[in-house]
Amino acid sequence: MATRIERAKYGAEATAGLSGTLPNPYPRTMGPNCMKYLQEVVDSGLTSDMVTRFEQAFAREMGVKHCIATPGCNPALTVLAAAFGFEPGDEIIVSPVTDYGTVLGLLKENFIPVFPDTTPGTINFSAETIRPCITDRTRAILAVHMTGLVCDMDPINDLAKKHGLIVYEDVCQAVFSEYKGRLAGSLGLAAGFSFDTEKTMGSDVGGCVLTDDDPLEERLRFIGHSRGAQMQPNFGRLHTVPGYALRMTQSTAAISLAQLEIIRSNVAQRDRMIRLLTRLLADIPGVTPLPIPDYQNVYSSWMAGFTLDPKAFRCSSDVFAQQLARAGIPGVGTGRYYLLPASLTFLQDKARNRTYPFSMPPASHAYAYSAEACPTAKAFLETFIRWTTFCEKYEPEHCERAADLVRQVSDQNRV
Ligand SMILES: Cc1ncc(COP(=O)(O)O)c(C=O)c1O
Repeated sequence: MATRIERAKYGAEATAGLSGTLPNPYPRTMGPNCMKYLQEVVDSGLTSDMVTRFEQAFAREMGVKHCIATPGCNPALTVLAAAFGFEPGDEIIVSPVTDYGTVLGLLKENFIPVFPDTTPGTINFSAETIRPCITDRTRAILAVHMTGLVCDMDPINDLAKKHGLIVYEDVCQAVFSEYKGRLAGSLGLAAGFSFDTEKTMGSDVGGCVLTDDDPLEERLRFIGHSRGAQMQPNFGRLHTVPGYALRMTQSTAAISLAQLEIIRSNVAQRDRMIRLLTRLLADIPGVTPLPIPDYQNVYSSWMAGFTLDPKAFRCSSDVFAQQLARAGIPGVGTGRYYLLPASLTFLQDKARNRTYPFSMPPASHAYAYSAEACPTAKAFLETFIRWTTFCEKYEPEHCERAADLVRQVSDQNRV
């Protein structure tokens, strides 16, 4: 009999049974008009224009021309990858510390992800770490704003311009974060968003692409929604490209529209609370909270986190996190798996075995993926502790309690 593997969990199931004395995002806070919009969908017998209403409302709120709704960010980035029209074997530079959903679309198009290292002390990459990775096969840079911290985009855009590269963003963890007064998601050619239940604008399994670019919008709808099919008189659907039907459902659009009405106040609360928590954690010797850059006016924090000075403590980050979970922070843990060159073992195998697109051609040289290729990110994640239960339900007393618990566990484990 096959051995049963433990499958990854998602949604409310991932936090079910968590105990602790701090808030937990579930059950999610729903916008007051949620039932009204859902009722409209039902009453219309599924003829409502809820998806278009959500798309227009989100684009307006983000100050971007087009929103193309999808069932998640993974599909949003998949459709974007298909729409760019790059060739198999072309390289896309991607943040090394991110979720698997960032890269799936690239792999399906047989592009080659290239992972620069992170900048020391931070969770994101930067123009300095990207620069040495640019080759004549590089076509685009996909910037992920991890935890809600926006990458330093101006130097990244300048570098990309110099080399004729597209820049686009993964904004799953940073909805309504602001960089120098500009919203994350408006800082490149296009951006992918997630409205998954667990995300800051939790709306069920949803997402979208944003772009100001008219031809790209047309292509995204053709490839992502219309199955790459054009209507041929006296014939019907002519599938000129292998497109998808990755549309958002009307009911998710109804929930997303209602969530959009409360997102700004939720994000403002997260921003206030993460800044307070950051100040409190910074006072604990040996503990370094994720640094918030000066350019970040709004930190729409999806998860809270800090690193440990390994010389200051007797225990590993795993033991520290377990003690912290027992002490009362629900869902606290480490996050080594976020280092994609380490967690994508199938990609390691393909590169090692030179399986397509790592065969030559279409690749022009050999590739290898491992944690060691990104030593700064690896070292950072070795000591990184985070909790995704941080949410807009936090009040100052919760930040104080969380910081007290971190201090207690720190004091128990000091060298
Ligand atoms: C940074 C990042 N990118 C992509 C995804 C995938 O988003 P979705 O679950 O909506 O497909 C996630 C979700 O965890 C994420 O955090």
